[in-house]
Amino acid sequence: MALKSIVLAVFALTLSMNLTAQDAKYLRNCQELRGADLKELPDSLFDKSLIELAQIFNTDKQASWHNFIDTYNRNFAPIQDSVTKILEIGIFNGASHKMWKCFFQNAEVYGIDIKQKPWVEKLGIHTYIANQANREQLQGFIDKHKGGFDIIVDDGGHWMNHQQVSLGFLFKHLKPGGLFIIEDVHTSIPKFYEGFGVDAVQSNTTLKMINDYITTEKIVSEYLLPEEIKYLEQNIEYVELMKRKNGLHSTLCVFRKKK
Ligand SMILES: C[S@@+](CC[C@H](N)C(=O)[O-])C[C@H]1O[C@@H](n2cnc3c(N)ncnc32)[C@H](O)[C@@H]1O
Repeated sequence: MALKSIVLAVFALTLSMNLTAQDAKYLRNCQELRGADLKELPDSLFDKSLIELAQIFNTDKQASWHNFIDTYNRNFAPIQDSVTKILEIGIFNGASHKMWKCFFQNAEVYGIDIKQKPWVEKLGIHTYIANQANREQLQGFIDKHKGGFDIIVDDGGHWMNHQQVSLGFLFKHLKPGGLFIIEDVHTSIPKFYEGFGVDAVQSNTTLKMINDYITTEKIVSEYLLPEEIKYLEQNIEYVELMKRKNGLHSTLCVFRKKK
């Protein structure tokens, strides 16, 4: 189908649904990718890799930025069809949630943020207002949407307590074999990134917690409850820590839960 027809169809849909320009851009992307009402589109349009999608949606996960997408692509491409529930903490303008929705076509996509994101909710992404460092608020999210996530990504506030409380509280809500990813672990390094709650002797950092786990298989964190520590130690299958030499010190950690 000619590009003109796609543009016209999206324009008509935009008018009928009264969408914002940003929503229309997403719709155009998704229609190109999923062919919602555009059945004559060639199959090749639906074959976008995560690497391409990260660029289309302009998230900071893309190759020219933090390049976390490289690790995501390796971990997520093999499970693309089987993922049914993905949660990402930190929505901002919705770029990565839209990307997940296009990529995981059999999945419901969930987002947690401290701010309301009504335009993202309108796109069929389940949004929930919560502070990721507050267990009661996270429990509110679980009460509403239940657990059983294939994937949980933490791209929220990136403070030490944010990252560790979310890992401790939400890990039990992953499916067996599920993946929990913490982005921007480089906020643990005050020499490069200030203002994320690192103490004077750097004893409370997420990076230290991960490195200590790698060497001792023990989780040490002042932010976690004893039962959360026990659950993590008993249920982590592996930890993959990725640090990129890209001037941003981009660091990401993947935890896989035992099957
Ligand atoms: C880096 S942006 C997310 C970007 C998005 N995931 C993407 O890749 O396109 C971080 C988001 O985290 C949210 N945030 C900050 N502190 C938070 C907290 N304590 N709990 C939940 N969300 C938080 C901010 O409001 C912001 O929208």
